[in-house]
Amino acid sequence: MVSTKTSIGAFDFDNCLMNAAGVYCMTRKELEAIESSAAGSFVTKTGTLEARAGNPEPRYSNTDWGSINSMGLPNKGVDYYLDFVTELQEEGGHKNHFLSLVGMSPEETHTILKKVEASNYNGLVELNLSCPNVPGKPQIAYDFETTDAILSEVFSYYTKPLGIKLPPYFDIVHFDQAAAIFNKYPLAFVNSVNSIGNGLVIDDETVVIKPKNGFGGIGGDFIKPTALANVHAFYQRLNPSIKIIGTGGVKSGRDAFEHILCGASMVQIGTALHKEGPAIFERITKELQNIMAEKGYDSIEDFRGKLHYL
Ligand code: DHB
Repeated sequence: MVSTKTSIGAFDFDNCLMNAAGVYCMTRKELEAIESSAAGSFVTKTGTLEARAGNPEPRYSNTDWGSINSMGLPNKGVDYYLDFVTELQEEGGHKNHFLSLVGMSPEETHTILKKVEASNYNGLVELNLSCPNVPGKPQIAYDFETTDAILSEVFSYYTKPLGIKLPPYFDIVHFDQAAAIFNKYPLAFVNSVNSIGNGLVIDDETVVIKPKNGFGGIGGDFIKPTALANVHAFYQRLNPSIKIIGTGGVKSGRDAFEHILCGASMVQIGTALHKEGPAIFERITKELQNIMAEKGYDSIEDFRGKLHYL
């Protein structure tokens, strides 16, 4: 029997597929739809200390090949999501989850993480170091010095399982430098990649989203090669205790298979989930199981990270 179960740290998941932060995760209703789908888990919309309205609309647009967005961190505030995942944890019998969060400044990030540390929530947290869409705020993880300083401070008080959501890197030296920093800390996982930041999509003569005169994060088909490279680069460089979540360009079982082959323990779906809805998890799980069955793999550990080279 072919199984797509997986684990991150001490947390087990019946299926390695789940949503990517930002898609189908703003409200309890959306999260409940992922919970009752074939997905193995959900991650919440990235929560900030206070609720945010985000950028002006239109701020998300689908294209033939994927999507562009500049949401600007609209969210109901971290307490909304923390309360929900804690409630599910205390009820028992649910999947394990990921609480995504970030502050609007390093100080706010520490305030939020201290709140989570003091709470009853013992599940996974995904610290988002890669939002490209808040005007005036750079993607944190492109600044290695700031990233190192934030992680150093975080692990002086935070004792629960924590991972980080990363932007795509495009240079081998950056993979080396980023991995050297991440390996200093007891991270449960890294998640590669967030959208490719600040692309531009044009329809006739006009941009398709309003914020930042049309600049926004790119998702979908074009980002898969970059995502696979980031997953595999970190798989080759990180301590084996730091698991990898692969995100980017997944719309078929074959795409998920490739992420796992590159080293991903879990695979997230964003743009394609936005287009297709939560029924996508059943479709892609079946497609992945069929590929595994054809190749004689019983579990994802049979091929995870075992990419062949020429
Ligand atoms: C948003 C986009 C991101 O890629 C991210 O990591 C966090 C927030 C947004 O625009 O809301």
